[in-house]
Amino acid sequence: MPKSLLILQPEGKRLKATVGKAILEIAQEAGVDIQSVCAGKGICGKCRVIVRTGSEFLSQASKVERTVFSDDEVKKGYRLACRAIIVKSGTITVEVPSESRAGLQRLLVSGVETSVEFEPSVRKYLVEVGRPTLMEPRSDVDRLLDSLSVQGERRIERICLDALRRIPHAVRSGERKVTVTVWENKEVISVEAGDKQTKLYGFAVDVGTTKLAGYLVDLDLGTTVAAASSMNPQIPYGEDVISRISFVMKDPKGLSQLQALIIKEINKLIFEACKRAHVTPGQVHEVTVVGNTAMHHIFFGIYPGYVALAPYPTVLRSSIDVKAKDLGIDINPCGNVHGLPVIAGFVGADAVADILATQMHASDDVAMMIDIGTNTEIVVGDRNKLTACSCASGPAFEGAHIKNGMRAATGAIERVYIDPDTFKIGYETVDNAKPSGVCGSGVVDAVAEMLKRRVIDSSGKIKTKLGLPNISVKNGIPELVLAGPSETASGHEIVVTQEDIRQIQLAKAAIFSGISVLMRQLEITTRDISKIFFAGAFGTYVDPQSARVIGMYPDVPLSRVQFVGNAAGSGARMALMSLKMRRKAGEISEKVHYIELGADANFQNEFLNATFLPHKNLELFPSVKRLLED
Ligand code: FES
Repeated sequence: MPKSLLILQPEGKRLKATVGKAILEIAQEAGVDIQSVCAGKGICGKCRVIVRTGSEFLSQASKVERTVFSDDEVKKGYRLACRAIIVKSGTITVEVPSESRAGLQRLLVSGVETSVEFEPSVRKYLVEVGRPTLMEPRSDVDRLLDSLSVQGERRIERICLDALRRIPHAVRSGERKVTVTVWENKEVISVEAGDKQTKLYGFAVDVGTTKLAGYLVDLDLGTTVAAASSMNPQIPYGEDVISRISFVMKDPKGLSQLQALIIKEINKLIFEACKRAHVTPGQVHEVTVVGNTAMHHIFFGIYPGYVALAPYPTVLRSSIDVKAKDLGIDINPCGNVHGLPVIAGFVGADAVADILATQMHASDDVAMMIDIGTNTEIVVGDRNKLTACSCASGPAFEGAHIKNGMRAATGAIERVYIDPDTFKIGYETVDNAKPSGVCGSGVVDAVAEMLKRRVIDSSGKIKTKLGLPNISVKNGIPELVLAGPSETASGHEIVVTQEDIRQIQLAKAAIFSGISVLMRQLEITTRDISKIFFAGAFGTYVDPQSARVIGMYPDVPLSRVQFVGNAAGSGARMALMSLKMRRKAGEISEKVHYIELGADANFQNEFLNATFLPHKNLELFPSVKRLLED
């Protein structure tokens, strides 16, 4: 056992406490899940731990920690794991409280189902390969290609080496019957002895910043046979895209490290889905991948650094095809990995897949798609014109930068209700567990309820003089108490503070001002919008009425709002099942007109007006106006 020991509680994990390293760094290297929204920069205040013993072996509490924690908390041993550096050898025991855990996040797999013309890029042929003769000793490959051309497959340009190596044995067994898998009518990617026509599968994966969702598709029948999902293993290196890109920029090995993590995790998903469907990974012949531009670039091992620097260029916009073995993806080694095209630095292949899944590009009526995340992608338009932008809505909807915020994991308060007569708080938590924090949809509900009950005004200010229960002022900061100490998992109360409300105002203003800029570009008004699609996890769990009350999206009737779940995953499946959809994805990526909000002269103004609840111009929200007047 090392003399210098870091013991992480409650699991009792014993790690080597290397002098010079921060607790967060050691924990992350060991795969311990501690929230680190700002990637260890000491800004987000989410990596809270409690030092139980051995504080003398750690650096003194920093200035930033003294502002994050009250004197009482400092006395109790609270530290930020990213700021607590081991300065001397010794044994340190640290507790990682439940609110600092990234936790078991609810993973969204299902998405809108859109039917496609079934035309996968891989096809199997059963051919009979004749014997060579002394009179005509033609090569195995020539005879195999002859048989393929009899079946109409005449455009073969090459044979993948791994498939080539299997030919001599395959054509001489299985009664000379051979199953040949051809990719895009031009490459032989697999040769198997006998009739294996029904064993043809593909895998579609959506690589999100937070989570991954994968789907195993039977490419013979066109059906999804299994799904698997997991958290993105890159989270310990930063919870948002920018933190991950800065990790890659700072560390020369960062890109290969993050790429290796994501490939390993996708291989796990493929294995898991195959196991469930009684399929072997070798029977998977193609993978389609979508993700935001940074995730896309990192997956393919493409340096994403310039994506984060103005004017935010992508390295590659069009689609990409790579051999599975070159990426280390564990399917048939000659199988193809197809990355859908991206649109811009902050509007990626996931947005292209969202558009495919919602079919906005083919609609006669104007539709809007909002995929809410740390960066929210918005697309507005119809078959004639589509415009898109990305707004820095920040991580507040993911529960970050919120005092008691957490992601939508077990114990997160996800629904809030304020009784109009008694002002008592009602709430629901994920998995009905004891509350351990509040997630994005819970905070949005809380703000909307406070506005409806006039606990806050349109500037978001909490009214402290009304003498309402559940409103208190701590250290001069007003807050709404959602759950008291006796109700919560940690024994600490869960609150929504004045500053949390501010964070939600800024986040929703970023989205609404982005929408306003796009609508102005298209010269349309709220009345022209026939449909609003909400995509992604937050967009699925947020209450649409609460989101409208706070002014997150234009005031359309709720019947026009449609939740499309993991539409990006659906789009990835569509591209897996249909070459036509793949071509459409290419057209979409070229057609969508990207608007850089920072370059729009009115954006700042739009943003300021949108920070009000629901908006400075209440006439834009007639239904909310009526509600408030009632
Ligand atoms: S404050 Fe430590 S990770 Fe953000």
